[in-house]
Amino acid sequence: MPFTIRPAHNDDADLLPEVERSAAQAFLQSEVLHWIASQDVLSVAQHRAFIAGSGTWVLVDADNRPQGFLCGQACGDDWHIVELSVAQAAQGQGHGRRLITTASTWARANGFTGLTLTTFTCVPWNAPFYTRLGFERLDPQLCSEFLQRQLAAEQAHGLSDRCAMRLDL
Ligand SMILES: CC(C)(COP(=O)(O)OP(=O)(O)OC[C@H]1O[C@@H](n2cnc3c(N)ncnc32)[C@H](O)[C@@H]1OP(=O)(O)O)[C@@H](O)C(=O)NCCC(=O)NCCS
Repeated sequence: MPFTIRPAHNDDADLLPEVERSAAQAFLQSEVLHWIASQDVLSVAQHRAFIAGSGTWVLVDADNRPQGFLCGQACGDDWHIVELSVAQAAQGQGHGRRLITTASTWARANGFTGLTLTTFTCVPWNAPFYTRLGFERLDPQLCSEFLQRQLAAEQAHGLSDRCAMRLDL
């Protein structure tokens, strides 16, 4: 099935929570993190806000139906990826990599100097994947205040083994 990536429309927002829930099923493979599969996902209202800020790309199938998304926001000179999800049935076909490339190409063209995110250190499709794409792990003490707050909030939410990463554009 042909997939394409395009900026998200407001109408896509209703469908994105289900995409994220499907994507999170990947964590059922993990003995330690299987509980992530049933955690809360971004709400429709949150998606609408990212879309209004031109901060979401969707991966769509031949019926123009979202099967993946990347959303984020400007954070100083960097652009921060809030969430990257590809529906379970579409995973492992390079779509995640293409969504990151789309965001980094756009961010560079729009004058941002880096792409940032927070992720699990040891999950194979998290930090090791981003490292292969050129992201570098940041020392928590040297992170921006925004990233430090983000890591603290995640820890308070029960997420351990998290790190912040940055791709220099
Ligand atoms: C992360 C995610 C978006 C990647 O999407 P995808 O379309 O499967 O991505 P790709 O096919 O481009 O593969 C991504 C990389 O992860 C690796 N990978 C994917 N699934 C994997 C698995 N089950 N086990 C080990 N490695 C895996 C691939 O080898 C690939 O690395 P490579 O391109 O360097 O070879 C997808 O797995 C997902 O939605 N996961 C659940 C949500 C999540 O973890 N989001 C990231 C939050 S920081």
